[in-house]
Amino acid sequence: MTFEDDADLDLLVVGSGVAGLSAAVRAADTHGFRVGVLTKGDLEQSTTRWAQGGVAAVLSGDPDSTDLHLADTLAAGAGLCDIDAVRVLVEEGPSRVRDLITLGAAFDRDDQGRLELAREGGHSLARVVHAGGAATGAEIERALVAAVRRSAAAIHENQFALDLVVEAGRCVGVRAADGTGVTRVVRARHVLLAAGGAGQLFAVTTNPIEATGDGVAMALRAGVAVADVEFVQFHPTALHHPRMPRPLLSEALRGHGALLRDTTGVQFVDELLPRDQVSRAMTRRMLELDVDHCWLDATGLDHFVERFPTIASALEEAGLDPSRDWLPIAPAAHYLCGGIVTDLDGASSLPGLWAAGEVACSGVHGANRLASNSLLEGMVFGARVVEAVQRGVEHASATGAMRSVSETADHSPIGGRPVEFRADVSPLGAAAPDVMAGQASPTSIPTAIPTSADIAGARHRMQRAMTAGAGVLRDADSLHRTAVAVADAAALAAQGSGADCWELANLATIAGALLAAATLRTESRGAHTREDFPSASAEFTARLVVTAGVRPATPSAGRLSP
Ligand code: SIN
Repeated sequence: MTFEDDADLDLLVVGSGVAGLSAAVRAADTHGFRVGVLTKGDLEQSTTRWAQGGVAAVLSGDPDSTDLHLADTLAAGAGLCDIDAVRVLVEEGPSRVRDLITLGAAFDRDDQGRLELAREGGHSLARVVHAGGAATGAEIERALVAAVRRSAAAIHENQFALDLVVEAGRCVGVRAADGTGVTRVVRARHVLLAAGGAGQLFAVTTNPIEATGDGVAMALRAGVAVADVEFVQFHPTALHHPRMPRPLLSEALRGHGALLRDTTGVQFVDELLPRDQVSRAMTRRMLELDVDHCWLDATGLDHFVERFPTIASALEEAGLDPSRDWLPIAPAAHYLCGGIVTDLDGASSLPGLWAAGEVACSGVHGANRLASNSLLEGMVFGARVVEAVQRGVEHASATGAMRSVSETADHSPIGGRPVEFRADVSPLGAAAPDVMAGQASPTSIPTAIPTSADIAGARHRMQRAMTAGAGVLRDADSLHRTAVAVADAAALAAQGSGADCWELANLATIAGALLAAATLRTESRGAHTREDFPSASAEFTARLVVTAGVRPATPSAGRLSP
């Protein structure tokens, strides 16, 4: 059964993390918009609530420090950040943190009431505010959920967003299904996708089970420009433990002096390098020694339990005592640096559709995100979307990452080599199995309707293949092998229906885009390491824009900010 929802919404937010909820609160409380929030779980369920370290923000107002935050972000991004987007991030970030404090979020303070600041990898000084030690996301989510429950006009929980509704070239809502499979169309004048990342692409991840790239996959199916999806950040210090998602041992531990050691006890990497470099060094050392973990030595840290209570209790559950034991760690998929291409206001290439947070590619992260810039990005660009809607903005401008879509082929160092990708696996069924046009076909086309166990098995096989072939280290052969597993998963997902099938279809869609871009990017840069092309290449100082289904008439890769 399908029915139209009659709510007359100004803004529909899809997703309930920091980007979506902070935008919803601002839209309703500051501008009096009728706001709806739609999420596939409960409002409280989002990747934000798992975020540990904190929010990088220069709250002192010192311009030198703001410039240093900008410089650290650009350095981590390995040549692919958009400098204008980063400038917006570091300059508007402090005000957004103050908004959260006004809303009731309690950040950690010292005896004099001053905010405590932590240092993390890639930061040249301590500038990360945090809450509950390393439970920052949970505190932010708590404050935002309470505010949204007070001010949103409509909250649609446990509704799976299937696809964007596009009429006359404009996004006018989403089609969503409830737990029984009943679908509905929720209409709004503007739709903000804030549906988070896709850590579930990989077998080993810090992301919760619901991080299945639904927003990016919906955008791909609607022909919306997506970029930088080959850059998946692996967090170096996830606890090596059977539990999934892997418990995170925050970067803040290294900021406080914890050491990285290989299994022979030797220190082999500077602990405060950006996390792509640390994860790569660890993976290589693990391969050399033929082991599956390294050690984090936090035995020298004072007041561990008082400073990091949530990590201390996760360790206690795992039978570890950080004052005595070295902690087993291995890299785990943590953050999708790319996503739906946006301009500096969060506008996508489809009028009426906006994106903010991990689902988006605003240009602030480039090839590798600086630690503790993700919550910050969500709150800064979520707010900018609301302000742009309030000003009556209707179309994206050629600013931020959107410049990559708008540039002409003549100006593009890799123009004429678009990433072609077919995203025709629809969550609603009727799908072509070939999600990896030109790369791989499924080993067989399933004929029977898959059971839940079939779908779960296909998801695990695809996740294992992605970890082995498209993880921290990749090459042309490993990417091609992975594509076969992805094509198999897509073919199976296309035969079924229900949330597990839709998630698998979305994962396969985004995996296809990732593999296509990673195959084309024949260089190593940031979080993308090609063993067969170990150096960065000036030719690839550009974003690869994935346009699904059709070969774009306009160029799909563009120059970056000078
Ligand atoms: C951490 O606390 O290490 C994670 C913070 C982040 O992902 O930026």
